[in-house]
Amino acid sequence: MSDHAEIILEGKSYKLPVVVGSEDEKAIDISSLRAESGYITLDSGYKNTGATTSAITFLDGEQGILSYRGYPIDQLAEKSNFIEVAYLLIYGTLPTQQELDDFSGKIKMHTLVNEDMRKILDGFPSTAHPMGILSALISSLTAFYPESLNPNQSKEEVDLSIIRLMAKLPTIAAWSYKNSVGHPVNYPKNKLDYCSNFLHMMFAFPTEDYEMNPVVVDALNKLLILHADHEQNCSTSTVRLVGSANASLYSSVSAGISALWGPLHGGANQAVIEMLEAIKADGGDSKKFIAKAKDKDDPFRLMGFGHRVYKNFDPRAKIIKKAADEVLTALGINDQILTIAQELEEAALNDSYFVERKLYPNVDFYSGIIYRALGIPTDMFTVMFALGRLPGWIAQWKEMREQKEPIGRPRQIYTGATERNYVPMEQR
Ligand code: CMC
Repeated sequence: MSDHAEIILEGKSYKLPVVVGSEDEKAIDISSLRAESGYITLDSGYKNTGATTSAITFLDGEQGILSYRGYPIDQLAEKSNFIEVAYLLIYGTLPTQQELDDFSGKIKMHTLVNEDMRKILDGFPSTAHPMGILSALISSLTAFYPESLNPNQSKEEVDLSIIRLMAKLPTIAAWSYKNSVGHPVNYPKNKLDYCSNFLHMMFAFPTEDYEMNPVVVDALNKLLILHADHEQNCSTSTVRLVGSANASLYSSVSAGISALWGPLHGGANQAVIEMLEAIKADGGDSKKFIAKAKDKDDPFRLMGFGHRVYKNFDPRAKIIKKAADEVLTALGINDQILTIAQELEEAALNDSYFVERKLYPNVDFYSGIIYRALGIPTDMFTVMFALGRLPGWIAQWKEMREQKEPIGRPRQIYTGATERNYVPMEQR
């Protein structure tokens, strides 16, 4: 294999180094091209642009492979729990028992949020989407911990910001839900594990405890693990880009939450359930909606289908589909929406439009069905995605800082008007 690429521009040859990853991924390093030739590369939507080298997550979209720090996603989903996976992503190795106890013990020590945060929460109308509240309150953590704004924080200080964020995001997330239904918030219970504590804060009432069901706790662990990282996706790239300006961990993750909210990204899980509900209300004819998705004059897309990088299948979707079946059976729920989803998948997988474009169900297609079975309301689905993605964002932000990456600043090709003189108002 060649160690460089050669590009010929206006008759002149330029040699560009080739970079090879540990899974044999190959890239051409074009960073010197502009300085030497005056040319930049153009790649709208960064479809073929590597923004960084990273040792966190490996993804092969053609073969449907996903692993965190080398461990296959199906093994982690089957055998691990969310806090262990969070440690793995953030610190690079599976923790020893002592490291795990230390990590989860510290997280438990920081689950309370400052009471003044409740005043900010109270300022939101009950119509506020929980993702908007989550993003705003996570950003407001900088006000309570102003030392996090210092870009030269020590390793110990960064670790404390990480612990605080892991600990407080579930509290803020559950409170954003309580705000939307006009109920009093629940305070964390530190004797509970991470997922059980979140369920308690979501579903307990002052009048009634929430009865923990191991099937629900296991399903939540699995869903969060499956969402925990996905290399340089839209929200993670946002976190790294914002962080590259030396913004604090809290502001960087707040920006990531806003990016995740979009219906083409994490917001798709809410959009899927709304779509399945609409199909059900319309009589359940999946073929009609397949036809709409194929019609280029119709803006309708089959939500939960297609992926920028998976052109075979999304390995997370396979695990979630099986889990959806198991969870609904274990909880004795018969949800017609699951049947509609299965019919829709079957129809799409046998339709040349979807086959030719390599459009398969993605992680969001079945996750909403499980969230619903767990009692999570629809507009909290994307918040659940954020809860899962948090360790990934943290790990990527930390790696970006440790690699001392320069500020992110893409270039452009200008297509506007060439220079012209200002025209006074009366002459326009
Ligand atoms: N329904 C119908 N047609 C589709 C769909 C869909 N869901 N997705 C892609 N296409 C078509 C698209 O119209 C285009 O057709 P043509 O070549 O004839 O113009 C072709 O497939 C390629 O699509 P694209 O938009 O160029 O692909 P992309 O890589 O830019 O977009 C995507 C990827 C995920 C934004 C897109 O597939 C989509 O909008 N899916 C629905 C939203 C969704 O489920 N998003 C969640 C993604 S997974 C969670 C996450 O990690 O964010």
